[in-house]
Amino acid sequence: MTAANSVSWEPRPSITNVGFDVEAARRDFPILQKQVYGHPLVYLDNAATSQKPRLVIDSISRYYESGNANIHRGVHFLSEHATEEHEAARRTVQGFLNAADKREIIFVRSATEAVNLVAQSYGRRHVGAGDEVLITAMEHHSNIVPWQMLCEEKDATLRVLPINERGELRMDELPKLLTPKTKLVAVTHVSNALGSINPIKKIVELAHSLNIPVLVDGAQAVPHLKVDVQDLDVDFYVFSGHKVYGPTGIGVLYGKRALLEAMPPYQGGGDMIRSVTFEKTVYNDLPYKFEAGTPNIGGAIGLGKAIEYITQLGLDNIASHEHDLLVYGTEALTAIPGIRLIGTAAEKAAVISFVMEGIHPHDIGTILDREGIAIRTGHHCAQPVMQCFKIPATARASFALYNTREEIDVLVKGIQKVKEVFA
Ligand SMILES: Cc1ncc(COP(=O)(O)O)c(C=O)c1O
Repeated sequence: MTAANSVSWEPRPSITNVGFDVEAARRDFPILQKQVYGHPLVYLDNAATSQKPRLVIDSISRYYESGNANIHRGVHFLSEHATEEHEAARRTVQGFLNAADKREIIFVRSATEAVNLVAQSYGRRHVGAGDEVLITAMEHHSNIVPWQMLCEEKDATLRVLPINERGELRMDELPKLLTPKTKLVAVTHVSNALGSINPIKKIVELAHSLNIPVLVDGAQAVPHLKVDVQDLDVDFYVFSGHKVYGPTGIGVLYGKRALLEAMPPYQGGGDMIRSVTFEKTVYNDLPYKFEAGTPNIGGAIGLGKAIEYITQLGLDNIASHEHDLLVYGTEALTAIPGIRLIGTAAEKAAVISFVMEGIHPHDIGTILDREGIAIRTGHHCAQPVMQCFKIPATARASFALYNTREEIDVLVKGIQKVKEVFA
C-alpha cells in the first residue's frame, strides 16, 4: 500500500456508556454469535432490518406453541387470550408513540402498507385535479411511489422539497412549496440513505398554519429516537416492526382520531365491518375499520415485546450509544483516503453512506462480506437521492444498539482490504 493509501486511524476502545451495557445487550441477540465465512458476524445493515432479541423470538414461538387462535370472534379461552395479547401490543405501541388513544394505532403489514393506506384512503378523498402533494428529495420509494400513483390517478402534481449538498432539507424552500393547492405533506423523519434527521416539528408547524396535514415516515426514526406524536403534532406516522427489533410483516399506522374517523376503509373483508347485507355494509369502529381480515397476530405480539425491550434499555441510552458509534465511525471512515461520505447533515442518526474512488459499492460490499461484515450497497430504495448526489449507489453501514466500536475497527480493516484488492 502506498503512503497516500494508508489509513491514519488509531482504534480506541468503547467508552463506558453509563446505564447501557452493550456486551449484555449483545447476549440478547442469538444471531450475533454467528460466524460468517469463518469470521464473527459484524452486522452493519440495520437500516435494512435489525436483528431480533431472544425475547421477541420466544414470544412468537410461545404464541404459536401455546396461544395460537384467531382473534376478536371467538368465545373460547385461546381466542380470548390471543385477542388480549394482540390488544396489549396495541397499547404498547400507543405508549411508545405517546398516542392519545389506542384507536389511533392501526396494525398494518409495514411502513409501506401504511403509506399506501393513507394515499388510497385519505388521499383519494382529499386530493383532486390540480392539487399538489409535497414530498422531499430524500424519501424512500415507499413514500414516493404511492403519492405518484395517487397524483397520476387524480391528475394532481407531486412537488419535491430539495436537499442541499450535506443531505439536509432546504427548509428555506418550504414556504414557497406550500400553497393553497397542497393537500398533504409526506416526509421522512430520518433518511435511510443519508441518515439525516429532519426538523419535523418545524415542517408540521408551517404546514398546519396553512391547514395542510403531515404524514411522517418514521421507519428509520423509531429504532433511534424517542418519538412523541402528540408533541410533534403529526397527523399520520408510520413505521415497520422489523427495523425496530420486531418481526417482519407487521407495521403501524398512527393517525389522529378525527382524521381516521372521517376516512373510508382501505380494504374490505372480515373484522372491518359491524354488519353486512347485500344492500349495505356498516363499517366497524377504529381501529378495526382499517384492519380487514385476520391480522398478523404473532407479529403484533412480537412487536410489542420488541418495544418493551428497547423501552427497558432506555431510548436515551440507545441514542447516546449509537451517537458514539456515529461519531467514531465518521472519524474512522473520514481518515481513509479516497472515501467520500454521502450525507453529512448536522443532525444525523447512526447511518454512514459512502463511496470510494474508483471502486463500485457492490465490490466494497462483496469483499467486506467475505470478512463477515454485512453492509448494504445500492440505491437503498432512494434512487432520487442518488440522482441528487450524481452517483449510482453507495455503500452503507448502519448501526444498532448492539454494535460496538470494535466492529467499526473491523469495518475499517475490511475497507483497507478493499483498497489493497483495488490498488
Ligand atoms: C425511510 C424508510 N421508509 C420506509 C421504508 C419501507 O419499509 P418496509 O419495506 O418495511 O415497508 C424503509 C425501508 O427501508 C425506509 O428506510
